[in-house]
Amino acid sequence: MNFAISLPEHGTFDAWRGAARMAISHHIPPDQLDWAGSGGLFASTPLPVDPGPHQVLVPQAFVKLAGSVIWHSAPERFALLYQALWRIDRHEGTPLSQADFLGRRLNLLAKGVGRDIHKMHAFVRFRECPTDGPRRRFAAWFEPEHNTLEPGAIFFAKRFGDMDWMIATPGLTAQFQNGKLTFGPAAHRPDLPEDASAGLWATYFANIFNPARIKLDAMRSEMPKKYWKNLPETRLIPEMLKDAEARVQRMREAGASQARPGAAAISTRYRAAMPQAPVLPKTLDQARDAALQCRRCSLCEAATQTVWGTGANDASLIIVGEQPGDQEDLTGRPFIGPAGRALREAMTVAGVDADKVWLTNAVKHFKFTPRGKQRLHQTPDRTEVEHCRWWLGLELAFIRPKVALALGASAAFALTGNASPLAARRGKVEAGLHERPVLISWHPAYILRLTDPTSQSRARDELTDDLRAALAMAHG
Ligand code: URA
Repeated sequence: MNFAISLPEHGTFDAWRGAARMAISHHIPPDQLDWAGSGGLFASTPLPVDPGPHQVLVPQAFVKLAGSVIWHSAPERFALLYQALWRIDRHEGTPLSQADFLGRRLNLLAKGVGRDIHKMHAFVRFRECPTDGPRRRFAAWFEPEHNTLEPGAIFFAKRFGDMDWMIATPGLTAQFQNGKLTFGPAAHRPDLPEDASAGLWATYFANIFNPARIKLDAMRSEMPKKYWKNLPETRLIPEMLKDAEARVQRMREAGASQARPGAAAISTRYRAAMPQAPVLPKTLDQARDAALQCRRCSLCEAATQTVWGTGANDASLIIVGEQPGDQEDLTGRPFIGPAGRALREAMTVAGVDADKVWLTNAVKHFKFTPRGKQRLHQTPDRTEVEHCRWWLGLELAFIRPKVALALGASAAFALTGNASPLAARRGKVEAGLHERPVLISWHPAYILRLTDPTSQSRARDELTDDLRAALAMAHG
């Protein structure tokens, strides 16, 4: 007689154990079990549902080995484990030891599974997803070599217990919601948003990459190429390798380096890091102090510091930019770099006194990508602007300006919730999310990027006109 057994994708270990116990309790030999559930060429029958007379005593070492081997992708794993169980029961040799042919095979499979779980823990990269709920949400796509999502997901549940997350794989999907881990069917690769953590991984990788110690083979074995396509940091590898020799030479010539400006500020901030104050700030100063500890999104990880607004705390006009740039990040003050200078020039022409308005940004941390020694500006995504809207809302609530001037698309989205293109909206007044009218204008950095002198001078005049109009509304 041939017995057909079909095991589920999830809960596979318990299902295999139950079936193996049932089969051995009826003395069913290994060659009569079809673990693929197909019955093969012979007519097959399901396993008996009631246990047979024989009871087997299973050593702990076997349960441990089986609990690992079961997640391997080799189709013969179920049969091999049952053969081992059969031989243990009959005291036929030592089927778990490396000296035994079967034991060696099983240990190899277990090793492959262990390695695969290790790679999953190292190479899953979560992306933050928008949410209206109280818990942050993350999603990741991962392609394990074996069926390791089920045993591997427990690690993430322990480590990221205070967030909701999902790991989708071609075989199974793990979902962690409100502290509960569940598994669902396989997924297609989802279109996940890029978020700040991608930049953070790239920064980290670029910083730990030591061109003088490149060992390509070791690198490939630690981070096999098949994982690269889902890792944000690996995009940098070809460029870093190309430049490695020249970098070693430059390092030799430069000698020991100093910590980059801002490093001290970062470590002070980390030392002072404390859980976010749950209390609602009661004053603008309290809001600023709370913002200095902000961890609402991952932009705080790579930026030097929070850049809070400056100016008059009873201003009737608030001017909102996108986010601090490189110089603002290092000094902690908004609009002091090239775009800031362009804005301040236009303000002078329009008669707007910087000390009498409130100058701030939609996003309070600098988002960038490292390129050599430079940090290149990256536009914040919607989620980041939404997270930071909390602080902008507090600035508006305490300063109570009559009107807001939005410079560029990110500021316009932060203030109005409308993300449509700016060209048709510039110079117009829109309803704000915070019960104040919002006048839309160009961002000074956009004006600086215009290469055609006529277009640039027209945009500069339009920004000046908008500043004048905003001032008139504020005084009206
Ligand atoms: N660009 C902005 O939007 N804000 C700044 O503070 C600097 C540059």
